[in-house]
Amino acid sequence: MGMSACTHLLLFGATGDLARRMLLPSLFALDTEGLLPQCLRIIATARSAHDDASFQALAADTLPEAADPQARSRFLARLSYVALDASDQQGFAALAEAVPDRGNLAIFLSTAPALFGATIAGLASAGLAGPGARLALEKPLGDSLAASRTINDAVAAAYPEDRTFRIDHYLGKETVQNLMGFRFANTLFEPLWNAAHIAHVQISIGETVGLEGRGDYYDGMGALRDMVQNHMLQLVALLAMEPPARLDPASVRDEKVKVLRSLRPIDAASVEACSVRGQYTAGAIDGVAVPGYTADLGRASDTETFVALKAYVDNWRWKGVPFYLRTGKRAPERLSEIIVQFRAVPHSIFGAAPLAANKLVITLQPDENIRLSMMAKAPGLDQDGLKLRELPLDIGLPNAFAESRRRIAYERLLLDLIEGRQTLFVRRDEVEAQWQWIDAIRAGWAARGMAARPHSAGTWGPSAAIALTERDDVTWHD
Ligand code: BG6
Repeated sequence: MGMSACTHLLLFGATGDLARRMLLPSLFALDTEGLLPQCLRIIATARSAHDDASFQALAADTLPEAADPQARSRFLARLSYVALDASDQQGFAALAEAVPDRGNLAIFLSTAPALFGATIAGLASAGLAGPGARLALEKPLGDSLAASRTINDAVAAAYPEDRTFRIDHYLGKETVQNLMGFRFANTLFEPLWNAAHIAHVQISIGETVGLEGRGDYYDGMGALRDMVQNHMLQLVALLAMEPPARLDPASVRDEKVKVLRSLRPIDAASVEACSVRGQYTAGAIDGVAVPGYTADLGRASDTETFVALKAYVDNWRWKGVPFYLRTGKRAPERLSEIIVQFRAVPHSIFGAAPLAANKLVITLQPDENIRLSMMAKAPGLDQDGLKLRELPLDIGLPNAFAESRRRIAYERLLLDLIEGRQTLFVRRDEVEAQWQWIDAIRAGWAARGMAARPHSAGTWGPSAAIALTERDDVTWHD
């Protein structure tokens, strides 16, 4: 792509939650490993009044306590701070003065999307949108197709698509990238990776956390828009896409967007059969009592904190293969898992002995692993026929890579931004295809007046979510 590593990183929303929990620690980790360009300056900006020293103190608090003091002070010395109110266009001139080299600039917007328009206009008018500047945007990129188009138009007016880096942090996770490694670096699976051999796919993302103080944001979004629109649909795209010719940004994203556009619309006619909305009530997780959603929120709400969907990718490869998706807050465990359920053998020679069909279990979180369940003979004399057992063929990722540090997804994404690699960022057409599918579901919910069904915290959604798969003779994996 011919982009060179940048010398300046402008961080908007630098005092916010994401910056403190993820971005600053990730940048520090990269720095510690010597991966940041030596001359990289990080210019932090937000509304609050800070000078360099007080911002550096704030940043220092986000770093691991055990960090090497030298690495720490080297990192902190890269940081400076410019206070800025994005609605005040004058402020951008002062910001621009802090960026002497505009030819090698990465900008990261981790602010409320309501500020994106003004921020981008300010950046452009201050000369911070020239050919050497790239822009990364953190979700939510709108809350509907229309809103996302407005944001994308505002971005496109200043930054062309090949300098726009839309973040979906799931793409920075090792196991998510490993979906490509696993599918396209092995010969074993790809011939079977289609409707002839795969009966269905399940993706579950459970979180034990509740609102985490983000009530206002979350209540306006709900599980469908917070998790499915982005992370889960990206997983579907990576699982279902055709092999890209190369691992470059255009090839990979061309294949992903084809999947997203092939998703069968779930609309008013099918929404009751293909989707379930849930909301957690008081319950217990790991034996600890937790309050219900409306108590967490402090007001009544019909927002879904759990959603289950039955989706189809309408193309040759996936004809008739359901993709069951579910995600929820206050689930029984923190778990992100993909199940690829293969079809049964065409004929059993083992009489009445039950045979379980092969199943690939890809765990993304909390541990990363890939297991293939296989049938094998159990030891014994088998006087009345061969005894078979289902056993996992375990790729043993955690042990194989025991010596490598588990990175935060943002380390990868920030480094790719700084070095100018776009493959793991979401292209405009992908985001818009995602929103189009999600908007139809929401319109269907509204048309059918589908309320969120209560379920106890610590469970995988209301019983309707179980019925969603059981109707097809499928059981959620656990
Ligand atoms: C974010 C959502 O995008 O992803 C959060 O807004 C959610 O609600 C988070 O908790 C989950 O990310 P992870 O990496 O913890 O699975």
